[in-house]
Parts: sequence; structure tokens; C-alpha cells
Amino acid sequence: MALLMDGKVGFVTGSAGGIGRGIAIELAKEGAAVVVSDLASAQDKGHETVQLIEKVGGRASFVAADVTKPDDVKSLVDATVKEHGRLDYAVNNAGIAIHKKLAEVSPEEFAQIIDVNLKGVFHGLKYEIPVMVDARGGAIVNVASVAGLTGVDLISPYTASKHGIVGLTKNAALEYGQAKVRVNAVAPNAIRTPLMDASPQAFVEELIAPQAMKRVGEPEEVGFAVASLLCDRAGFTTGVTLPVDGGYLTGA
Ligand code: NAI
Repeated sequence: MALLMDGKVGFVTGSAGGIGRGIAIELAKEGAAVVVSDLASAQDKGHETVQLIEKVGGRASFVAADVTKPDDVKSLVDATVKEHGRLDYAVNNAGIAIHKKLAEVSPEEFAQIIDVNLKGVFHGLKYEIPVMVDARGGAIVNVASVAGLTGVDLISPYTASKHGIVGLTKNAALEYGQAKVRVNAVAPNAIRTPLMDASPQAFVEELIAPQAMKRVGEPEEVGFAVASLLCDRAGFTTGVTLPVDGGYLTGA
């Protein structure tokens, strides 16, 4: 049986750790070459992801990019094309969160979450899509959240940003479907990562309680969902947001 991503080349933003690392490793296990990307300040961890990929026999390199900076994201796209000759796939994963009641969120905090989570995905789509259109095809997955599909207590700027990602995913799919560029999203819930480890225990328990599975998910489980949306065999799937949530939304 052929690997899902055999010979494909692309990048994963925010893949120095957490879900991004899990996605990068799963894509590599499925045969993809992966450009691991993250903030310059996270480059040591980024190189760790590269080494983990090489350990499982995959191909990877690291390129620093801050997704809030359009020029950085354009350079990441250009660097991938320069290194590999193509951009078959991209995963816009980088994201941040804060936990506060809405009225306690400062305008600066709100803007920061929107900058990283929503504008970061916009910058990705803006520079990834034209390269894929020129190449007559490609596939993109944006990392949203269950908070992109329903309200979640104490994370209103995050919820706003993730609903925005779901909307951008639909519009990008609609506008570029005929150019054979597919754009989908995943909506994880409660995945074992540094971001989740830094969340208050009560918050994590609240995320798990409504699930069918009642457990924390693993980054690799999100990675497999991403690979299954990016691969050519998913050629008729675009514009969807796939929950990877242990059944969090099934009873919602
Ligand atoms: P994490 O904090 O473990 O990893 C996020 C990565 O993004 C870090 O390596 C960080 O350096 C990088 N990053 C932050 N700002 C950046 C910027 N401006 N430019 C480039 N990279 C930047 O978080 P985690 O949990 O792995 O989250 C990854 C994605 O998954 C995020 O979009 C998050 O919202 C989403 N998510 C996470 C869930 C969870 O349970 N952990 C649930 C639902 C969604």
C-alpha cells in the first residue's frame, strides 16, 4: 500500500513542538518531505523536530518564520520552493491562547491572539495559494479548534480567531477549487501539548467532560487526520473542518 504523502513537499508552521510537531512527524512517516517552521526563538526545538523526523527515516529542514509577519511567511513559501522545487502542501498550525473572561481581556491581548491565530493563517493562505495555482494543484490544512465551531468558556479571543479560520477555510476552498487547490481545517480538542499542559487543570477537565472518549488526545492523532485531508485520495474533500476531538462536539 502506498504511503499517503509519498513524495509530497511542504511545511508546517509552529512545528517546534506540540501539535505542529506531531503533524510534521506523521506527514514524514507518510512519505512527505517536511519544512519545519517556527519562531526564530524556538529554533532549537525546531531542530529537535527535524532530528525526530530523521530518526523515523524522513526528510526535514528548519526555516524560521513568524506568522504575524507577511514577509516571513512569503520567505517560508519561497524557501520551500527553492529547496524542493514545489509546494504540494502547507499546514497553517501556529497558534496561541489566553484564559480570561471576555471583559478582562485587554484590547492588546485580543489583537495579539487575532494576529497570530487568524492573520497568521491569512498570511499563509495568501502566499501558499498562488504557488499552488501556478502548479495546477495543492492542498492546505488550517489548524482551527472545537472553539472554531462552538463557544468555549474563558477563551473568547481564541474562539473568535478560530471561528475566523473556519470561515477563511470555506472561502479559500470556494475561490480556488477550480484551480485544484483544496483547503480544509481540523478542529482538535484537548491535545497533549505544552499549550494544554500550561492550561489550568479545571479548564482541561471541562474540555474532557463532554467528550465521548473522555481523554486527552495525542498530537500524532491530529497529524494523521491532517495527512488524510492533505493526501490525493481525499481529492473530492474541500472546505470542511474535521473535528479531531474525542467526540466533544457529538453531543453539542
Ligand atoms: P504549542 O504552544 O505547544 O505550540 C504552538 C507553536 O506555535 C509553538 O512552537 C510556538 O513557538 C509557535 N508559535 C507561536 N507564535 C508563533 C508565531 N507568531 N509564528 C510562528 N510560530 C509561532 O500549542 P499547540 O497546542 O501545539 O497548538 C498548535 C495549534 O493547535 C494552535 O493553532 C492551537 O490553537 C491548536 N489547538 C490546540 C489544542 C490543544 O488541545 N493543544 C486544541 C485545539 C486547537
